[in-house]
Amino acid sequence: MPLAAPEIDFLRETIARRSGNVISESQSYLLEARLSPIARTAGLPDIRALVDELRKNPSHVLHDKVTEAMTINETSFFRDMAPFEALRDHILPELVKSREPQRQISIWSAASSSGQEAYSIGIILRTNYGHLKDWDFRILGTDFSDEMVTRTRDGLYTQFEVNRGLPAPMLVRNFDKVGMNWRVKPELASMVEARKMNLTENWLNTAKHDVVFLRNVLIYFDVKVKEQILRRVHQSMRPDGYLFLGGGEALVKLDVPFERSTIGKTVCFRPVAK
Ligand SMILES: C[S@@+](CC[C@H](N)C(=O)[O-])C[C@H]1O[C@@H](n2cnc3c(N)ncnc32)[C@H](O)[C@@H]1O
Repeated sequence: MPLAAPEIDFLRETIARRSGNVISESQSYLLEARLSPIARTAGLPDIRALVDELRKNPSHVLHDKVTEAMTINETSFFRDMAPFEALRDHILPELVKSREPQRQISIWSAASSSGQEAYSIGIILRTNYGHLKDWDFRILGTDFSDEMVTRTRDGLYTQFEVNRGLPAPMLVRNFDKVGMNWRVKPELASMVEARKMNLTENWLNTAKHDVVFLRNVLIYFDVKVKEQILRRVHQSMRPDGYLFLGGGEALVKLDVPFERSTIGKTVCFRPVAK
């Protein structure tokens, strides 16, 4: 029997409360397909029984599983190339000059999914600045999903995943073949720290970042949540830092302390004093 409207509303509210992600009415049809396997794994006969279970146990781990199943993890290496080119050709040459006294550069891939974004940044640093041995290059990859954080830590990708975005010479320079899959080389893995972090909850992330990639995630939040997240991103950045959003994301109509700036072939956002 299909889900009734109150059950659909309950699931949408649960997901919004846990992750800030808004499941629109037109996406409700996805609930059935994505949540049925979770019901089965939990030994429940169907998705309605899953809803009952969630209602009975408000703090049960199933709430996280349901929320994670409804979030979109689509990503790839060097996705929408232009921000990575801007990082390589404009931002890093600038930062390597200005951060010479500290010799430290910190880049945060927020909502990094299975880690391709964080490792793409690492590949740029390794390829272009590998000779700067006494510099501390830090890449932090965070995501709300336990499964995605574990995947980032494992750094193991299928042939299909590496084919999406990695030219062959770059692949063999940065990955080792493991059976049918590819694992990031230890030198690259050591540059990326993967951590669980929900952008809508309190952040433990206290470091100040020079560059933040916050791409293809704001689209899932409503205006208020977007503004809250962006204000906190502002606090976690150095004043002369750079913020990248996804191709379809903009700050129009948002009351946030960033200004638009064109770098190379792309747009980024620079913090302004509040
Ligand atoms: C579409 S992927 C984007 C991945 C990568 N940034 C990119 O552009 O390729 C969106 C990611 O956001 C994560 N996400 C969704 N809601 C989140 C939240 N409240 N806090 C942290 N991450 C979240 C999802 O788990 C998913 O991995």
